Amino acid sequence: MSNQTEIRRRRTFAIVSHPDAGKTTLTEKLLLFGGAIRVAGAVKSNKIKKGATSDFMEIERQRGISVATSVMGFEYDGYKVNILDTPGHQDFQEDTFRTLTAVDSVIIVIDAAKGVEPQTEKLMNVCRMRKTPVIVFINKLDRPTQDTFELLDDIERQLQIRINPLSWPINNGPDFKGVYNIYNKSLNLFKANVQEIEPGISFSDVNSPELEKHIRADAQKLRDDLELVYGVYPPFDHNEYLAGTLAPVFFGSALYNFGVQELLDAFVKIAPWPRQSQTEEREIDPEDSKFSGFVFKIHANIDPNHRSRIAFVKVCSGKFERNNVYKNVRTGKTFRISAPTAFMASQKEIIEEAFPGDIIGVPDNGSFIIGDTLTEGEDIHFKGLPSFSPELFRFVENADPMKTKQLNKGVDQLMDEGVAQLFTSQFNGRRIIGTVGQLQFEVIQYRLEHEYNAKCRFEPLQMYKACWIQSDNPKSLTEFKNRKHQKMATDKRGRDVFMADSQFILDMAQSEFKDIKFHFTSEF
Ligand code: G4P
Repeated sequence: MSNQTEIRRRRTFAIVSHPDAGKTTLTEKLLLFGGAIRVAGAVKSNKIKKGATSDFMEIERQRGISVATSVMGFEYDGYKVNILDTPGHQDFQEDTFRTLTAVDSVIIVIDAAKGVEPQTEKLMNVCRMRKTPVIVFINKLDRPTQDTFELLDDIERQLQIRINPLSWPINNGPDFKGVYNIYNKSLNLFKANVQEIEPGISFSDVNSPELEKHIRADAQKLRDDLELVYGVYPPFDHNEYLAGTLAPVFFGSALYNFGVQELLDAFVKIAPWPRQSQTEEREIDPEDSKFSGFVFKIHANIDPNHRSRIAFVKVCSGKFERNNVYKNVRTGKTFRISAPTAFMASQKEIIEEAFPGDIIGVPDNGSFIIGDTLTEGEDIHFKGLPSFSPELFRFVENADPMKTKQLNKGVDQLMDEGVAQLFTSQFNGRRIIGTVGQLQFEVIQYRLEHEYNAKCRFEPLQMYKACWIQSDNPKSLTEFKNRKHQKMATDKRGRDVFMADSQFILDMAQSEFKDIKFHFTSEF
C-alpha cells in the first residue's frame, strides 16, 4: 500500500466525557467490534477496567481512576482505527488536553439523562480551540431521559457548536424501542444484551405502513419527530464537520451494545484522516516523504518488572521505520529505535513501520520530554502542546535527607512526564510544584515513594496563578523582575514565570507594567 493509501485509511481519535457518562463502556464496545478484545456478554465497564486493556499502572488499579492514557489500535472494515484513551478524572485534565493534540477527531459521550456536564464543556472548549471535528454520542437511552429536542438544544447551547442528528431515538427508558438511522435511512430495534448485531431494517420511506409492524403506536410519533428534525436541521454537511463547526449526533446505549456499530460505521466513513500539523517553522503535510513526529505523552513503568519509560510518539509525516536513525531536535542527538511498539489489541507489539496517524511507543530511559520533535534531521518544532497555568501550588521538600538524589531524579522525571509542573523560586531556590488538582500531589508522593524510593513533603503555598512573562522592552522586564524578585520563578525550560498571589496583585502588575505580556499558557 502506498503511503497515501495508508494515511487515508487511518482514523486516530479520542473518546472524551464527563466521568460516568460511559466513555469506558463505549471504548470497550468499539474494541469488541474491532476484535481487539473478546468479552462474553455486555459486561459492566469496570470489570474490564480492572482487567488491563487500558490500565497499566499500579496506582490506577489502587485508585480505580484511569490515570494512564493509552492507545488502542485495531483494523475495522479496511480502516486502521487508533483510539487514544484519556483519563476520566478531572485532576488529570492536562493529560487529556495533551492527548487531544495527537488526535484527528473526537467522540464526545453525553449521558442522556444528565446532558452536558462541566467536564464535557471544558473538553469541548479545547476541541473548539483546535478546530477538532467532533461527533456526539448520546448514551444511556435505555434509561429515562429528557425530551430529545430539548436535550439537543441544550447541547448546542452549552457546547457552542451547531449539531446535526444523524440518528433519532424512539422513546427512552423502559419504552426505548431503538433508533432511526437518518444517515443511512434504516431502523434499528433495541434488544438488550444481544451479541450478534442485526443489520438495520432499511426504511427509506418512513411513511410506509410497514413501520407500524415494527414499532406500532410509536410509528406516528417517529414520523412527526423526523418531520420536525428535517425542518430544523439542514442536511448533514460533511465539510462543516471536518472544519469543526458542526457536530453530528448519534444515540445509543453503550452498555447494551446498541447504536455502537452504527456509530463506528459512520465514524470511519466521515471522520478525517490525519491532516497537516503546524510547526514553528512550517506546515507539515502527512504526505511529506520524510518522517516527523512528536512526543505527547511519557509513561513510566508500564511493566513494573522493568523500570523503563515509554514515550508515545504521534507520527505526523512520512514513514517511521524501525532501526532508522532519527533526531531529537531539542537535544540535537540522533538515535536508533530498535524496539518501537504499537498498541494493537490489548498487547504491545514490536512494529517495523508506522504511518501518519499512528502512535508508536518508544522505549525511553530519560532522553525525551513531552513536546519533543523527532525528525530525519530537519530542525522543526511542533506547536500546540502548551502547559497551562496550574491551579494549586505547593513547595516540595525532601522528607528523607538520605535520599536526596532519588528525590531529585524522581521529581525531574515525573515533571518530564507531565505529571505536574515544576518551578524554582529565583528568590530562595525552593522548588514549587503546580498542579490542576489535589490528586496529582498524592500521585507524586506515591510514585516518588514506590518508583524512586524517595520521600517528599508538601508545604502549603497560597498562589493564584503562574504567568509566563515576556516583553520587547528589556529595561522594563528587568525592572519588573527586580521589583517582584520574591515572586519570580523559573520553569523547567529556564523561562521567567511570575507567581501572582492573587487576582488583585496580578491586575495591579498588569496595569503598572503595560509593556509586559502575561501569558497563562507556556506556548505564546
Ligand atoms: P466513564 O468511563 O465515562 O467514567 O463511564 P463508564 O463507562 O465507566 O460508565 C459508568 C457507569 O455507567 C457504569 O456503571 C456503566 O456500566 C454505566 N453505563 C455505561 N453505558 C451505559 C448505558 O448505555 N446504559 C446504562 N444504563 N448504563 C451505562 P457501573 O460500572 O455499574 O458503575 P456504577 O453504576 O456503579 O457507578
